[in-house]
Amino acid sequence: MQQNAPVAFEAGDDEQFLTLTVSLGDGGHFAPPAAVGFRVMELIRMFGLPIKAECGGACVCSTCHVRVPEAWRALLPPPSAEELAKLDEIPGADDTSRLSCQLIMTDALDGLEVEVQPDSLNREASWAAG
Ligand code: FES
Repeated sequence: MQQNAPVAFEAGDDEQFLTLTVSLGDGGHFAPPAAVGFRVMELIRMFGLPIKAECGGACVCSTCHVRVPEAWRALLPPPSAEELAKLDEIPGADDTSRLSCQLIMTDALDGLEVEVQPDSLNREASWAAG
């Protein structure tokens, strides 16, 4: 059994956190602090939420699958050919699907919403957000 330990950010005086809302698809919504330059997958993990992300962000495992609401998709950079190839391997993936390890927080993404998909949830992990 894997345990995801929450990691607290230590903000500097001039550092501001962005808003990121993460849904686990079961009604649970979480808002991990989101600093510019961090990958969405890293933020989800650092907050202690049970995302698999088995390759650690190398874009080879497809286990960091999230869906992004339409309002946010236009603000995201388009997926790379590498990301598209991995998304094609996920049954049921569609235009709303992204790999969260390929999404990097920027000021323009303040307020971003993502939903971790069931295929990427680590249901055996004990976890505690926060
Ligand atoms: S963590 Fe493996 S593809 Fe994103």
